Amino acid sequence: IQRIAVLTSGGDAPGMNAALRAVVLAADHYNIEVIAFRHGYQGLLDNEHVVLEPKDVLHVLQYSGTIIKSARCKLFKEDAAAITAAQNLDALSIDALIVIGGDGSLRGADHLANHWSGQVIGMPGTIDNDLYGTDTTIGYATAVNIAMDALDKIRDTADAMDRVFIVEVMGRYAGFIGLRSAMAAGAERMILPELQKDKPLTVSALVKHIHRVKEIRGEGSYVMVLSEHQWPGGAVALAEQLDAEYDLPCRPCLLGHIQRGGPPAPADRILASELGVHAVELILRGAHRVMAGMRANQCVEVPLNESWEKKNPLTENLLRIQHEIFNPVKKKQRNK
Ligand code: F6P
Repeated sequence: IQRIAVLTSGGDAPGMNAALRAVVLAADHYNIEVIAFRHGYQGLLDNEHVVLEPKDVLHVLQYSGTIIKSARCKLFKEDAAAITAAQNLDALSIDALIVIGGDGSLRGADHLANHWSGQVIGMPGTIDNDLYGTDTTIGYATAVNIAMDALDKIRDTADAMDRVFIVEVMGRYAGFIGLRSAMAAGAERMILPELQKDKPLTVSALVKHIHRVKEIRGEGSYVMVLSEHQWPGGAVALAEQLDAEYDLPCRPCLLGHIQRGGPPAPADRILASELGVHAVELILRGAHRVMAGMRANQCVEVPLNESWEKKNPLTENLLRIQHEIFNPVKKKQRNK
């Protein structure tokens, strides 16, 4: 192995820079040259590449975003695009490609592997944590921290004014950020895709719950975490409805892309560093069409297609605790 390539693709995730740094430093350690394609798969199609040397990546792990840029590239789904990419990789004598991204990006990597003979390795880079075969993905810990921090701040003002708040978090179609941030911040309610799928919450059931909590706790706030795409019109529409139709003073707060910025959490920097080295070492061991993952603190390799075809379930115990134990219910009088 003399020369490998790397790209970051899809929604950027905090820790992608740490992952790049680890790939470049590990490759340098094994005397391998690294070429980076800028702007994800689009750069691979446009042949937009640069050489990455250790000096380029030494002090980037404390920043979110990605120094080699990222992009979404719908075109890459087509066979013709993968064939062009394969030709570009061959023209540069690339032995292996590392793709850092979420499910769409790893699906793209698998698609490329159908048309290219070099080794293809994926790395899980997404705040959504929705990739199978790794306990967590790079960026997820930071997003949960940011959501928790925002929820804590919202609590201050919600408590002061006895208000209901709906904080909308990202996660695409997975409730990982919603569940963990709700628990970390002690939210009264969470509306997550996994819960909505089985038993969609109605507005009347929600209003009943808000009244019950207020009745049991007396004055105070009610803070709810809403995963994106889980309510028609999102947090804004739901807040308006609660305010206008049910006389519940309610405010929406959309966290949006701030969940992808700021200093990456230590867990993401460390996970990215470990997986970056693991990805290079997988290449040296001849691995192909796998994602470098981390399970129970062990570096693992997961068939690339499984990473996006299979689903990681939410932690049952966290769901139970957040739902049943931390939810106030009217209790029978205790026997004296
Ligand atoms: O996949 C990461 C993510 O941040 C999702 O949580 C969100 O649904 C999506 O990307 C937003 O995409 P974009 O940055 O293209 O608006």
